[in-house]
Amino acid sequence: MHNSLKTLSLVLKLFLICFSVEGFLLQDHQPHQNASDEQKALQILTRLLPSLTTHPEIVVNEICKAYPSLIFPHLGECQLYYNCSMTYSPVPSNMEQHMMECTYPDLFSERTLQCENFTDVCCGARQEIKDKCSYRMEKTRGQCFSPSCVGKLDGMIGTTWNSYMICLKERLLGVGSCDTEELPYKGKCTSRLEVPKSEHNGGLLPSCEKKVDGIYRFIGDSSVMNFGDYIRIGHVCDAYYRCDSGNITVVRCPNGTVFHSDVGVCKFGNSSLPEYCQLYCNPYRSKKFNGCFPPRIAECPPPLQFSERTKQCENFTEVNCGSRTEIKYYCNYWYISYLYRNGGHCSYDHPKACLRLPNGLFKHPSSFSQKAFIRCYQNRLVEEGQCSFDPVWFEQTYPYNGSCTQRFAIPASDLQGVGLLPDCTGRPDGSYQFITRPCDAYYRCDSGNATAIKCPDHTYFDKNSGRCSSNAAC
Ligand SMILES: *[C@@H]1O[C@H](CO)[C@@H](O)[C@H](O)[C@H]1NC(C)=O
Ligand SMILES: *[C@@H]1O[C@H](CO)[C@@H](O)[C@H](O)[C@H]1NC(C)=O
Ligand SMILES: *[C@@H]1O[C@H](CO)[C@@H](O)[C@H](O)[C@H]1NC(C)=O
Ligand SMILES: *[C@@H]1O[C@H](CO)[C@@H](O)[C@H](O)[C@H]1NC(C)=O
Ligand SMILES: *[C@@H]1O[C@H](CO)[C@@H](O)[C@H](O)[C@H]1NC(C)=O
Ligand SMILES: *[C@@H]1O[C@H](CO)[C@@H](O)[C@H](O)[C@H]1NC(C)=O
Ligand SMILES: *[C@@H]1O[C@H](CO)[C@@H](O)[C@H](O)[C@H]1NC(C)=O
Ligand SMILES: *[C@@H]1O[C@H](CO)[C@@H](O)[C@H](O)[C@H]1NC(C)=O
Ligand SMILES: *[C@@H]1O[C@H](CO)[C@@H](O)[C@H](O)[C@H]1NC(C)=O
Repeated sequence: MHNSLKTLSLVLKLFLICFSVEGFLLQDHQPHQNASDEQKALQILTRLLPSLTTHPEIVVNEICKAYPSLIFPHLGECQLYYNCSMTYSPVPSNMEQHMMECTYPDLFSERTLQCENFTDVCCGARQEIKDKCSYRMEKTRGQCFSPSCVGKLDGMIGTTWNSYMICLKERLLGVGSCDTEELPYKGKCTSRLEVPKSEHNGGLLPSCEKKVDGIYRFIGDSSVMNFGDYIRIGHVCDAYYRCDSGNITVVRCPNGTVFHSDVGVCKFGNSSLPEYCQLYCNPYRSKKFNGCFPPRIAECPPPLQFSERTKQCENFTEVNCGSRTEIKYYCNYWYISYLYRNGGHCSYDHPKACLRLPNGLFKHPSSFSQKAFIRCYQNRLVEEGQCSFDPVWFEQTYPYNGSCTQRFAIPASDLQGVGLLPDCTGRPDGSYQFITRPCDAYYRCDSGNATAIKCPDHTYFDKNSGRCSSNAAC
């Protein structure tokens, strides 16, 4: 009886706080049959809340002051409730004092006064929030990236590429991804070979309509190839299809064989792939070779290419790629770009310079050492190293004009700043002594061009005669 009086006085107090009592009078819900007087009063009280929209938090505070262990639903959103024994300090954003939220996708049950499976809760007039990102605590935790099931059918629904979400009654029950060679299709992870191209970006099953009868390789649309995603090669090694009067038959290659498009059958041995010179089909490559290639597809390690003649990877100098695209730069091999997919700087370790340089030796583009060089051959980087010491000139050599050159043969005007060969412009033709070197060598001017010359052993440059001699006056 004491409690009922307390409730009654609280109700009156609330009337004073809030001028609008309309809602109270309009409530026609019947309290539960078994409820005590106190509970009845509380139920009426909590139903009053929506009418008191101007200051709902004051009402909640008053109720909680009077009933410090009360739990009651939020009348607006079905996943929210108030728990008077729980006090925030400070109140999280998007929440109110004493307000709690069920974890997604649970809802608060008025019957059990706790969070329950959403399928078991009757929300009545309370709004059911179905979208995970609309639960308040999801927003409070930060940016919410969950996909939405609202408006979707029950079951597995594709999101992007091979990822999917699982929906039940417009709730998101989970997310996942199919194996790299499968796509979410018709409610399950399905081999890409069985997913029509027309229905799914990434599906490989074509239509034989308007196609000449014959045998074809499965090839993905250009939109799914070279997408920067390493599984989207688009070419299939372990199956092919036959078109017959517009009907399609899919043939999977038996174990140990791959499709050979030149003869139109599955058979033993490696086969080449159209379009890519470094890729090939290898019947013994297991699934997910190196974690990035579809089954039976393999890539020659750089700088090798696949030879259609020998049916294996060979030095690029030995392979005629024909119309197949030849990757020349190390970092553009597919497996290498896969290794660097999460960042990192392949081009720091593997300079790109040879792509635009002729054959020969050049200053290293990314080394701080002036002695460092790269050697290019057919636009490939074939060697990196340091120029050595020249034992004849007794001088360090540096990359210059396609080879490691000792300093006295490099023009002083050269931008590297290591050259010691004077400029001959404007000088009469003839032989001159180096100012910065003893007379075991000299340089010649020839129509304005300078050349360094070393005197043979035990001879020295003779200024007067302009030649090397054993009894030179230096
Ligand atoms: C009323 O309460 C009694 C005992 O507490 C219980 O056995 C009965 O099932 C309840 N009835 C309803 C309708 O909740
Ligand atoms: C209410 O809050 C108390 C204290 O934080 C907690 O122990 C209790 O589990 C909460 N009840 C519900 C239904 O949230
Ligand atoms: C919720 O109910 C649905 C349907 O009855 C069921 O499939 C699901 O497993 C339940 N979830 C939990 C967490 O019990
Ligand atoms: C192609 O399919 C149609 C309909 O399924 C069938 O009537 C026809 O005989 C098939 N043609 C061939 C060559 O199999
Ligand atoms: C092919 O070989 C793999 C592994 O060697 C085996 O697991 C699979 O069952 C074989 N498939 C067939 C059709 O023989
Ligand atoms: C297939 O290519 C790989 C890599 O070059 C090679 O090791 C293997 O011997 C080749 N297989 C056949 C049957 O030629
Ligand atoms: C490939 O050929 C080039 C040029 O003949 C040679 O310099 C290089 O060493 C060869 N590379 C390999 C891996 O055999
Ligand atoms: C560069 O080297 C070539 C041959 O290696 C030589 O004929 C030419 O004179 C050199 N040029 C200069 C500027 O040294
Ligand atoms: C000197 O250099 C110029 C331009 O580099 C060249 O045209 C000329 O043939 C060279 N003369 C000799 C004698 O090498």
